[in-house]
Amino acid sequence: MWKIALCLVAFQVILAQEAGEIPEYIKPCRRDDPELLKCFMNSLEHVKPYLAKGIPEIEVPSIEPFHMNELSLQLTDGPQGYKITLKDLEVFGASNFDVKSMKLSENGEPFTAQIVMPKLKIESKYISSGVLLIIPASGGGDFHAVFEGCKANLTGKVSTPVRNGKTYMHLDAFSITLDVEKASMSISNAFNNNRVLLEATNLFLRENVRVVLEAMQPQLHKKLAMEFGKLTNQFLKHVPRDWFYI
Ligand SMILES: *[C@@H]1O[C@H](CO)[C@@H](O)[C@H](O)[C@H]1NC(C)=O
Repeated sequence: MWKIALCLVAFQVILAQEAGEIPEYIKPCRRDDPELLKCFMNSLEHVKPYLAKGIPEIEVPSIEPFHMNELSLQLTDGPQGYKITLKDLEVFGASNFDVKSMKLSENGEPFTAQIVMPKLKIESKYISSGVLLIIPASGGGDFHAVFEGCKANLTGKVSTPVRNGKTYMHLDAFSITLDVEKASMSISNAFNNNRVLLEATNLFLRENVRVVLEAMQPQLHKKLAMEFGKLTNQFLKHVPRDWFYI
């Protein structure tokens, strides 16, 4: 009996030692946890506030707001087709995610996760060219969007590079698709604040928000995946796999 007790004590000591070097933003799971998936989902929830603030010691930037450099969309065809480019996007609300479900990678299949974000707010600059209906709509100004009820599917593959004798994880193929329940968009500070043009454009955005969103989605998905993938890998680069499950 005392042998078992001694073993347990030794085991605890090892766990404590390992835990000692594990930073606070990691909530490790036990390999033999019968609810390992649930534990991983909890670990993801645990890291949220750290992502919101950023983790300077490993150069992970804050995702509140989350930055994207550019999205450009062609809204109508033809030589005078209306084109709008959003620049310096700031996305607010991305850290407020809930992990709804998750499937770990198995037999070479990618992992998948479903997350929801109640509200994403986008603030950016925009420049536009072309003609919108009959209004010449070239110009630039501020662009605002609110997406509510966002559901995102994440899919990816993880490789396990070894560095200095330690195994790490790396996100290889990563994709994001986003479904938005309710969207609204508007512009301001454009057309020298010509009220007629501003209102006409905002009316167009109100009535065609789904069309604009659809035009935006392929690029938005690609950029989100690229930026989030970069961020995730910046995080994983500093976290040996053993820290996730001990
Ligand atoms: C996410 O995946 C589910 C299940 O495969 C699917 O029903 C849903 O349409 C997907 N949503 C998006 C935004 O891709």
